[in-house]
Amino acid sequence: MTTESSSNQPAPSQPPIVYFGSTTDEQLDNVRRLVDTFYDEMDQNPAYAVIRRLHPANLDHSREKFYLFLSGWLGGPDLYSPQFGHPRLRMRHMPFPIASSERDQWLLCMVHALRVLELPERVIEGLMMSFFRTADWMRNQADPPGSAKVGSTTGASNEPGRNGIPGITIKGEDVQ
Ligand code: HEM
Repeated sequence: MTTESSSNQPAPSQPPIVYFGSTTDEQLDNVRRLVDTFYDEMDQNPAYAVIRRLHPANLDHSREKFYLFLSGWLGGPDLYSPQFGHPRLRMRHMPFPIASSERDQWLLCMVHALRVLELPERVIEGLMMSFFRTADWMRNQADPPGSAKVGSTTGASNEPGRNGIPGITIKGEDVQ
């Protein structure tokens, strides 16, 4: 995989999984690498301590489920639904308090993992827009007054904020 700087190009029309490798085996190996990088970073970097605490001490089960889900979500084989049924992501995340700060920790951890894989930058931007929409829709807690940094699209936040994706620079603005 090569890095490419082309932030003003549109997101690619192919399913993102094609950027993960030229064969299904290679693609799935790289999805596994993405998931492992994501959870290793969450486990080791104190910047993600709040969302790390929401997960079990042993992350093996979390890694496996996220890998199975991401394969299909990225346009590859659907490995999740045959075992676990419809993802119902919002419902499955209800036991975990998710406000804007948890959403943003999750997104920053993900953009780090995508960059380790050295996917083309425009692919990362397209994926992060999709991850943002999904993560934002998962919020189930209002933000403490005055705490929200990034714009909301679902109304769970009590601040209008900016519409931006953590870790991604859009139109010259570094959104953190
Ligand atoms: C918004 C911030 C998010 C937080 C704080 C969060 C947190 C969690 C936690 C604590 C679990 C349970 C792990 C376990 O039981 O081992 C989980 C499971 C999961 N998460 Fe997230 N998550 C977030 C966003 C996302 C997003 C954006 C996606 C997909 C694009 C996603 C996909 C999943 C999947 C597929 C599972 C497994 C569900 C199951 O079958 O039980 N999560 N997440």
